[in-house]
Amino acid sequence: MKEFKTLTIQNLYKNYGSTEVLKDFNLTIEKGEFVTFLGPSGCGKSTALNCICGLVPITGGEIYVDGECIDNSVDICTAPEKRGFGMVFQNYALFPHLTIAKNISFGLELKKMDKKEIKQRVENVLELVHLEGHGDKFPSQLSGGQQQRVAIARCIVLEPRLLMLDEPLSNLDAKLRLEMRYELKSLHERLQITTIYVTHDQHEALALSDKIVVMKLGKIQQVGNAQEVYTKPVNLFTADFMGYKNMWEGQIARFVENGDEVEMILNINGTSIVSKLLFTKNEVVQKLKLKNAYETGQSILTAVRPEDIIAGEGSINCFVCNINQTEYLGKVSNVSASVPNGFKIDARPECDTFSGNTIKLYVPPEKIMVFVKEEG
Ligand SMILES: Nc1ncnc2c1ncn2[C@@H]1O[C@H](COP(=O)(O)OP(=O)(O)O)[C@@H](O)[C@H]1O
Ligand SMILES: [Mg+2]
Repeated sequence: MKEFKTLTIQNLYKNYGSTEVLKDFNLTIEKGEFVTFLGPSGCGKSTALNCICGLVPITGGEIYVDGECIDNSVDICTAPEKRGFGMVFQNYALFPHLTIAKNISFGLELKKMDKKEIKQRVENVLELVHLEGHGDKFPSQLSGGQQQRVAIARCIVLEPRLLMLDEPLSNLDAKLRLEMRYELKSLHERLQITTIYVTHDQHEALALSDKIVVMKLGKIQQVGNAQEVYTKPVNLFTADFMGYKNMWEGQIARFVENGDEVEMILNINGTSIVSKLLFTKNEVVQKLKLKNAYETGQSILTAVRPEDIIAGEGSINCFVCNINQTEYLGKVSNVSASVPNGFKIDARPECDTFSGNTIKLYVPPEKIMVFVKEEG
């Protein structure tokens, strides 16, 4: 099937009865991109995939391939097999009574492809997923990781123009998950198949994606590349999901704009903390929200990644803390500490730490995200 340049999802809605599972979902996917839907369980990731591939009817909105509508919930609904999208499910769904080669060739045989060509394609794809020589085995004779690779091979042998993977690594143990993540990345680099990948694991999303779509309760929160989502979460939800901690509540006591840069003095429980952030043209709305919070005295919440808080001195943002708990991680330790009469700090310093001791922690101003506290 012909490859596409862009897949556009416009104002997509999906309801189950009176429950809105997807709301105003807008996204453009470019040819060759690796796009990840990232969000907690139940936020609508699988539903979004199923809507895009046509397994689930959409309630509202449109889906376009190169400007041509393939689904509009009214009078157009291209059948799943005519979309040329391939799906790999979490539980592999291999046929247990068929050999690996037969599992992979199944879809090609349905298409009545020439026997010799089928054999060649199966051999090629087995090589691609590093399973050459395993064609005559049965699924039960393979490990979980190998079965997962068969499921992927079975899908890509059909040469889909879009590959969709729904939490493909979640059944594997931690070590294998890392290996398969690497395999997936290298497969994507070699084949350049446009891919939508679903996961609730931010590490997977960061490692694999060209574009991350962060979702919460059926709504897109943020779309950006790994670095953007990691360093510039647009709200507390995304920050939390990206591993930010140190959500201290307070007010903005001072707000000074200097071009794109904003310097704020935050009052957290009577302690002054300096935050210095850059806002690009695209982020003006966020800047205005903070300015408004400053003027009205509205509460704010901070978010700082533990790994950005370092042991050391500084003329500002330096706190002598009591260590409540430590967790040895090798090069660094997770440290949960508290400022006397103040707030708790989660840090990941590189020095030896012991609970009961004190530690001086420095929180760099440019690492302190500030979000207006939402009502309710
Ligand atoms: N067939 C269905 N009927 C009713 N509710 C459904 C159905 N499928 C999914 N849901 C609901 O839609 C929401 C999103 O589900 P899902 O897309 O599976 O989330 P995720 O993949 O992010 O875990 C959940 O609240 C789920 O209960
Ligand atoms: Mg799911």
